[in-house]
Amino acid sequence: MGHGELRGVVALDGPSGTGKSSAARRLAAALGARYLDTGAMYRAVTLAVLRAGVDPADADRVAEVVHAARVEQGVDPEHSTTALDGEDVGVEIRGPEVTSAVSAVSAEPRVRALVVAQQQAIIADALDGVGGVVVEGRDIGTVVAPDAPLKVYLTADPQARAQRRAKQDSASGRVSTVDATLVDVQRRDALDSSRAVSPLRPAEDAVRLDTTELDLAGVLAALLRLVDERGLVAEPSGRVR
Ligand code: DC
Repeated sequence: MGHGELRGVVALDGPSGTGKSSAARRLAAALGARYLDTGAMYRAVTLAVLRAGVDPADADRVAEVVHAARVEQGVDPEHSTTALDGEDVGVEIRGPEVTSAVSAVSAEPRVRALVVAQQQAIIADALDGVGGVVVEGRDIGTVVAPDAPLKVYLTADPQARAQRRAKQDSASGRVSTVDATLVDVQRRDALDSSRAVSPLRPAEDAVRLDTTELDLAGVLAALLRLVDERGLVAEPSGRVR
C-alpha cells in the first residue's frame, strides 16, 4: 500500500469498543507488521477456566488451570487466530460466557504474570522476524512493552462504544442490544480499571486519541501519521524515512 514497513512496537491501549482491534489490524497490515491481540489470550485462558468447571473467582484454581493451558496466538493481521490446547477457539472466546468471566480471570496476578511473559516472547519474536508489531490491549504501554516508541490510548464515549460493540455482536450472529451492551461495557471498564495489578490506564507518555467522531479510516489515518512522525517507518529496503 506504499506506506513502508513498521520498525518497533506500537502499543494500542484503551477500553473495549474504541475501535482498537480493527485499527490495530489494519495498521499492522498496512505496514507489513505483526499484530498481537492480547485480549484474545486472556479470553482463551478464561475459556480454559470455564471448561475446567472452575469458578473464575477461585484464584488458586484459576492460576492452576491457566498454568496448564496452552494458548497459541497467531500474529498475522489478515488472519488472527487463537488456539487453546491445539483447538481453534477464535469464535468461542467471543461468546457471552467468556466475555462475562474474563475480567475476573484477567485480574489474577498469577494469570497476568504468565500471559504477559508469553506476550513479551511473541513481541520479541516479531521484532526479530519482520521487525515491527502492533500490540493491542489494556496494559501494553504500561507493563507489556513499556519501552514501545509509540503508545496510543484510544478513548470514545461509552454510548459510541456500546453501539460499535453491539454492531460487531450482531454481525457475528449474536443477539445484543445497545442498552445491554452499554451496561456490559461499563461493568468491564469498572473492573478492568479498578483491579490491583496492571489496571487499565494510559501510560504517561501515551498519545490520547478520541475516536468518538472517527470512522475506521479516520483512526487509521491518525495512527499512520503518528507512526510516520515518530520515524518508525522504513522503506522496504530497511532505510528509515
Ligand atoms: O480486548 P478484549 O475485549 O478482547 O479483552 C478482553 C478482556 O481481557 C478485557 O475485559 C480485559 C482483559 N485484558 C487485559 O486485562 N489486559 C489486556 N492487555 C487485554 C485484555
